[in-house]
Amino acid sequence: MSEVTAIAHPNFALIKYWGKTDFVNNIPAMSSISLTIDTLTSTTKISQKPEMQENIWELNGERQPDLGQLLPTLDYLSKVGKVNEPCLIQSDNNFPTAAGLASSASGVASIVVAYNSLFDLGLTNQQMAKAAMLGSGSAPRSLFPGLVLLDIENQCDCHTLVEPNQWPLSVIVCITDDQRKTISSREGMEISRKTSPLYNSWLKANRHYIKQAKEAINAKNLSELGQISEENCKQMHEVMKTSNPSINYMTNKTIDCINEVISIRKSGFDLFYTVDAGPQVKIICKTEDNHFIQERVSNLPSVSHTLVSNIGYGARVTHEG
Ligand code: PMV
Repeated sequence: MSEVTAIAHPNFALIKYWGKTDFVNNIPAMSSISLTIDTLTSTTKISQKPEMQENIWELNGERQPDLGQLLPTLDYLSKVGKVNEPCLIQSDNNFPTAAGLASSASGVASIVVAYNSLFDLGLTNQQMAKAAMLGSGSAPRSLFPGLVLLDIENQCDCHTLVEPNQWPLSVIVCITDDQRKTISSREGMEISRKTSPLYNSWLKANRHYIKQAKEAINAKNLSELGQISEENCKQMHEVMKTSNPSINYMTNKTIDCINEVISIRKSGFDLFYTVDAGPQVKIICKTEDNHFIQERVSNLPSVSHTLVSNIGYGARVTHEG
């Protein structure tokens, strides 16, 4: 085998992490719960290239000047697998990159899975999660399907809480702006950890959020999950705003879209929103309601387009050759 292709999907956190406990090993300071989606995809082909001097990474067809955040992941993989062969890594996203749509999580997860298969490393789930985490703190969650817990209190164990077919939910991504973000989440988290007066209370509240969200998920109670998830999202954005310098990923268009979600909810639908390190709004709703809700938000001048997904599967190999 000289090349392997793998795909992975982004995941969106319903209970978020914002802050690292170990900057070098890129370990989140708090646990998180996410939802892996389908439709949006990172596809990575890794080919063995003995004639090359070093690993080369192409993203969306463009050769990158260096390996960037992939370097720690690839160093770990080559060390654990005792692999010294240079590779060409070609990743493509079918959605906007670095715009708060978790492209780094799906990108890194697809690379870990492809590399593991190409060199037949036989990594355990825990080793895969560690490799992914070195590249992006949220990437281990994209290795797994459905609703996923990344448990910082249990050696960063990452596992599925609910499989995709067990709870038919949809995610409507409302794109308000698809420019690259100005401040990376990695930088932003460090600024918040060091400067926000709310950081410690945010850290302390994490256990409570995880517990409440797990209960709502066990009971498949969407409105309960929505309430706790929106509260968690608002608190994270407050931590960002109270940082110095202040960080604000939300724009007026984001707020406009959130207001529409609240108005649709008032009319009797069960849905909630979440916003990450970018201006896009992700709406979580019952699959049976997604057409109606998509139509409502698509009519907003603040929404340039929408992407609809259901709950998706974990990272996996699609081709070996
Ligand atoms: O690990 P990163 O760099 O993908 O940062 C993730 C940050 C948030 O999306 C805001 C929160 C989260 O838990 O996904």
